[in-house]
Order: sequence, then structure tokens, then C-alpha cells
Amino acid sequence: MENNAKVHIMDHPLIKDKVTRLRDKNTNVKEFRELAYEISLLMGYETTRNLELEPHEVETPLTKTVGSYIKQTVCLVPILRAGLGMVDAIVSIMPSAKVGHVGLYRDPVTVQPVEYYCKLPVEVQDGLTIVLDPMLATGGSAAAAIDFIKQRGAKDIKFMCLIAAPEGVEVLSKAHPDVEIYCAALDEGLNDHCYIVPGLGDAGDRLFGTL
Ligand code: PRP
Ligand code: URA
Repeated sequence: MENNAKVHIMDHPLIKDKVTRLRDKNTNVKEFRELAYEISLLMGYETTRNLELEPHEVETPLTKTVGSYIKQTVCLVPILRAGLGMVDAIVSIMPSAKVGHVGLYRDPVTVQPVEYYCKLPVEVQDGLTIVLDPMLATGGSAAAAIDFIKQRGAKDIKFMCLIAAPEGVEVLSKAHPDVEIYCAALDEGLNDHCYIVPGLGDAGDRLFGTL
């Protein structure tokens, strides 16, 4: 993987602890959902670090002062279906965030992304769009989803995942060099079936109990 300044790998102990629990094959659906939520919440703090602010006057019980409100609209775009497991966490810290959806699945034979749904808020055109998917494996799904989102006018996009493979980071950074990538962990690589190793298995199956 090329040294890429646009890749942010989380190094907070709380995230490392939770990622380790998430990987464990004995972690059940309930715990997996809770951990995905908690990691996404902690990562939401990092992905929104550069949000634009505007001055806002507020009257405290003592005096008037000028503070800040967030200026940009934030649009969350989970890649169906596993990205859904990350949405509620970010909405809990940004209750006004808009939410769009991109439906993609990896063809099990070709591992190429197949689109089946795309519905986005118009605010992707001038807000910050955060694309959510727990797994960045070959990078095909993320790159295709961001293609669709850009076709609908989005300019300021970040990609947030729980586990990334170096191969996926490379593909996504080449396809969309303007998109910053945030991952809770960067793994060793992909196996012969394009699953991330050590990874956590199939994120959608583990989130929704479809194993
Ligand atoms: C998983 C995952 C990503 C994709 C990553 O979804 O949630 O969207 O694979 O793989 P890639 O980087 O090689 O494209 P999957 O296709 O299993 O669909 P699902 O969410 O419906 O289970
Ligand atoms: N999709 C997953 O859910 N897991 C992987 O390891 C790769 C793609």
C-alpha cells in the first residue's frame, strides 16, 4: 500500500479493544451490533473533526457570548446492507444528518459490485457526505458507491469503515484520491475469496444474524 496521507487508522485504545471483541467468532449478534455502534460512534468524532462552523450568539444566564454552530449539512450514506449497522451511532451525535442509501452487493463469483438501489438527499451536493461500510476489502463496492454519489453531485466525501485491507485502500485511493478514508483497523490482506484476513468474517451476516 502506498503511503497515503488521506488514510486515517484509529489508534485509540477504546477502539482497539472493541475491534478485537468484534473480530471474535464467539461474539453474538447482539454484541456485534453494539460493538459496531460503539466503534462507529467513536470514529464519528474523528470523521467530523473538520466540519465547518458558523458563529452563533447565545445568551447564558450571565451574559451574551458568541459560540459556534455546525454550518455544513452532513449526509450519511450507508452501503446496504452492512453499512446500516453504522448509521444510528452517527445520527446519535448528529441528529439532523440526512441519510441516503446505496444498495450494492458483491457478486459471489466475480466479487464485482452489483448496484440495486440508490436514493440520496439533495444535500450531498453541498454538504459533507460520509459513506459508511464496515468492510473495505477489494475496494470495488466503495469505489462504485462513491462513483454513484459523485454522479449525483457530491463533492466533499469521506469513507468510514471498521476494517480495511491494504488492497481496498489502494483501489479506493486511486479511484477517488480526494476521498479521505477512516478505518478502525488496517488488516494484513485478502484471502483467495477476497475476504479480509484476519478480518471478522461477513459483516452483513454477523450484523443481521444471517449466518
Ligand atoms: C460486503 C461489505 C462491503 C463489501 C466489501 O458487502 O459490507 O459492501 O462486501 O467488499 P469489496 O471491498 O470487495 O467490494 P456484501 O457484498 O457482502 O453485501 P451485504 O452487505 O449485503 O452482505
Ligand atoms: N465483505 C465482508 O463482509 N467481509 C470481508 O472480509 C470482505 C467483504
